[in-house]
Amino acid sequence: MAYILVSGRDGQLGNELKDLSSAQNFDFIFTDKEDMDITDENVLHEAFRKYKPAFFINCAAYTAVDKAETDQEITYKINAEAVGLIAKQCHQFNTKLIHISTDYVFNGNATQPYQPDDATDPVNYYGYTKWLGEQLALNNNPDTIVIRTSWVYSSYGNNFVKTMLRLMKERKEINVVNDQFGSPTYARDLAEAIIEIVNSQWSMVNGEEPNSSHLSPLTSHIYHYSNDGIISWYDFAVAIKEIKQLDCVVHPIPTTAYPTPAKRPAYSGLDKSKIVNDFNIQLKNWKESLIDCLDQL
Ligand SMILES: NC(=O)c1ccc[n+]([C@@H]2O[C@H](COP(=O)([O-])OP(=O)(O)OC[C@H]3O[C@@H](n4cnc5c(N)ncnc54)[C@H](OP(=O)(O)O)[C@@H]3O)[C@@H](O)[C@H]2O)c1
Repeated sequence: MAYILVSGRDGQLGNELKDLSSAQNFDFIFTDKEDMDITDENVLHEAFRKYKPAFFINCAAYTAVDKAETDQEITYKINAEAVGLIAKQCHQFNTKLIHISTDYVFNGNATQPYQPDDATDPVNYYGYTKWLGEQLALNNNPDTIVIRTSWVYSSYGNNFVKTMLRLMKERKEINVVNDQFGSPTYARDLAEAIIEIVNSQWSMVNGEEPNSSHLSPLTSHIYHYSNDGIISWYDFAVAIKEIKQLDCVVHPIPTTAYPTPAKRPAYSGLDKSKIVNDFNIQLKNWKESLIDCLDQL
């Protein structure tokens, strides 16, 4: 059986992939920092030598966007340099790399959803290192798929949904910004999309007919994925309140009233038609997925 090596097992996406992995025809090897620190080239090489994985799914990242502004050295190492090391190993061992990136590679000045090949221009250090990571992933390994996603949440880990639930239970009123727009992504849905891509790619390398639409020689290896619908953080918070029937009052505020160390793009809607068309992936509406996640919590 072919191996799939996964980094970042204990994160939101890593956990969701783990939950789905038992039903698949692959041997998944889930790792986190303790057993495979992606910044350590020797450790990575040893893992590749041992498993000779057909796929490497990189769910590991430094994701604390505000802290990244000051923790620049470690952010760079994990989000950029380590991705280059992973891609080099992938190239050496003929491994397909699926690397996860972010909507924060864009500056947010757009007024319609970003296409995968639109110009990037990150406005914070996290976004800059994720952009560098994309470049290193694509340049060091010809067999790389980069999936940019946005506003990730899950029943695992820390995220906006869990923070809102806690605050809405603790407080009578909260303020949430209503002038930053994007699309939430339930990590479970993203994990399902990744599994579909793996299955489709696996069919191809084995000379079988792909089970979904085919990948003609890839003209670009960058895809966008999120749930369907573009909303503000305020809309997201109100939906959480309504679904959970909480009494807390949610006030809309402008970004200027909630300064953060890292600047955020004002608009980061992603155009997903490429991933939908190439892999026949069905997008779920953001509210439907939010209800699913809140059921899990
Ligand atoms: N969260 C979002 O809103 C969001 C939005 C857009 C894109 N993304 C991208 O989506 C992907 C998955 O995000 P996520 O939310 O699942 O992230 P997450 O929950 O923060 O998980 C990241 C995992 O990577 C691990 N990790 C950190 N440094 C490592 C190292 N040197 N070696 C191995 N593992 C290491 C972390 O371990 P520790 O916790 O112990 O450090 C954590 O378990 C990332 O590429 C992220 O950039 C996320």
